[in-house]
Amino acid sequence: MADDIPPIGIARGLTNYGDRAFSLYLRRSFIKSMGYSGEILERPVVGIASSGSGFNNCHRSMPELVDAVKRGVLAAGGLPIEFPTISLGEVFLNPTSLMFRNLMSMDVEEMVRAQPMDAVVLIGGCDKTVPAQLMGAAAADVPAVQLVTGPMMTGRHEGERLGACTDCRRFWGSFRAGKIERRTIDIVEGRLATTAGTCAVMGTASTMACIAEALGMSLPGTAAIPAVHADRLRAAEASGAAAMQLIRKPIRPSQVITPKSVENALRVLLALGGSTNAIIHLTAVAGRLGIEVSLRRLNELSDSTPVLVDLKPTGDNYMEDFYAAGGMSALLRELKPLLHLDTLSVTGETLGERLAAEEGTWVDHRVVRPTSDPIEPVGGLVALFGSLAPGGAILKRSAADKSLFEKEGRAVVFSSLEDLSERVDDPDLDILADDIMVLQNAGPTSGTGMPEAGYLPIPKKLAQQGVKDMVRVSDARMSGTAFGTIVLHVTPESAAGGPLALVRSGDRIRLSVQQRRIDLLVDDAELSRRRASLPAPPARAVRGYARLYQDRVSQADTGCDFDFLRGVARS
Ligand code: FES
Repeated sequence: MADDIPPIGIARGLTNYGDRAFSLYLRRSFIKSMGYSGEILERPVVGIASSGSGFNNCHRSMPELVDAVKRGVLAAGGLPIEFPTISLGEVFLNPTSLMFRNLMSMDVEEMVRAQPMDAVVLIGGCDKTVPAQLMGAAAADVPAVQLVTGPMMTGRHEGERLGACTDCRRFWGSFRAGKIERRTIDIVEGRLATTAGTCAVMGTASTMACIAEALGMSLPGTAAIPAVHADRLRAAEASGAAAMQLIRKPIRPSQVITPKSVENALRVLLALGGSTNAIIHLTAVAGRLGIEVSLRRLNELSDSTPVLVDLKPTGDNYMEDFYAAGGMSALLRELKPLLHLDTLSVTGETLGERLAAEEGTWVDHRVVRPTSDPIEPVGGLVALFGSLAPGGAILKRSAADKSLFEKEGRAVVFSSLEDLSERVDDPDLDILADDIMVLQNAGPTSGTGMPEAGYLPIPKKLAQQGVKDMVRVSDARMSGTAFGTIVLHVTPESAAGGPLALVRSGDRIRLSVQQRRIDLLVDDAELSRRRASLPAPPARAVRGYARLYQDRVSQADTGCDFDFLRGVARS
């Protein structure tokens, strides 16, 4: 029996009992226990990778999104089957969500490949979930559509709009500086994140949603739809229908995620003034298909890509404003002369065909600026190289204080996260506003999970004097919602013996954004002496996923992916 039936739908990838006909008979028997008719089991199957969880507020709307995707699949003649994967709620994971991104990506890859589905709709939203789903889908290479949960709406406090999480940090900074009272911060706590959805600014989740659309993995115009908007459900229904279309005319992720579409995504990242985390994630997604993302190429693109989207933390607005202003369609049209227009999306259309069809639609240029009047004439991110970061480091220049861009200063070093939290507010800490703060041992293999700790707090005594920004350097990451002159992802990291490990308080460090350099001004002989007496690297985790992570995670410049998950090189 099984040999006569084409391997589609639930007949795909049979469990191996040594008798294919028996395997299919058994599978059909068991799935019938869920009430399916024999007729509907003949349909092609669209898997729906659902990442809802009670530990993920950003995915609160998952049940209704799954229902809407199912509606689209059923109406198009398919059989939708939902399955769960790991969920990564940014603020609920210890030590960090990044550490579990690779685990989720493996879950997605293996379950998409192992279970019988002809196409899949991936539903994610919170920071690491969309990268994990794209990484898994790219590796499995089964036709896939990415659907995001969408951003939160803003809240209100005493007449002011609030959105997670740039405003979270602003209020917390004021509280630390003694400018607002405990009573106020307690009230604000309940007004920052007031609806389902992802952070309301151009943080990592929003950036990755836009990148998924720029790559061509999401339906056109869907990245910025608010989580609670009816259009979000219509986008979910359309994503289900699009997955059915992909079964009829297969397009695989490897045909959508290509060197050209990755470059388009980098342009979009730069024009958004998007999250620094996105460069790690896009590198990891591309890496699954053997596509290299070069930080030197990032700099070339950054020099010729203006920042056009006026959203916090770079500008003033929120994701709901971006959607109302025209969203990704508006941005891509502005960037058109800079983009590769022959890239393919999951709709089967090229980017050029899409933009031609959208020509002339309304844009609010207060939010999506024309290239003739950009927010910044150059891109939001820049890579730095030099003796302190031979493998590169990242600075979000669009969300930083330009007066600090050309600066030499005295290093004040914190050797670990614990050291930082113990000493940063010590009234006796030897630090001035002109110094450069350095954090060591917060990189990928440090055992910390590379936290978003690169946004070192301004020491309390300086914050109380009104200091709002200082140059800060680390091998950690930074939340996409943060603002500051912060040099991140220093590679190689200190735990791997990078030059960052050799910095001592009192050393001089020179930052030159113009020259794309970050240098440690200490002579080689002294550095060799210090290297000889470096303490042993941090102890390895003894077992389990933490051990796997420490043993096999790559550095930030290759996306912090596992070395054994990267794809074969493609040009
Ligand atoms: Fe989920 Fe910000 S906490 S996107």
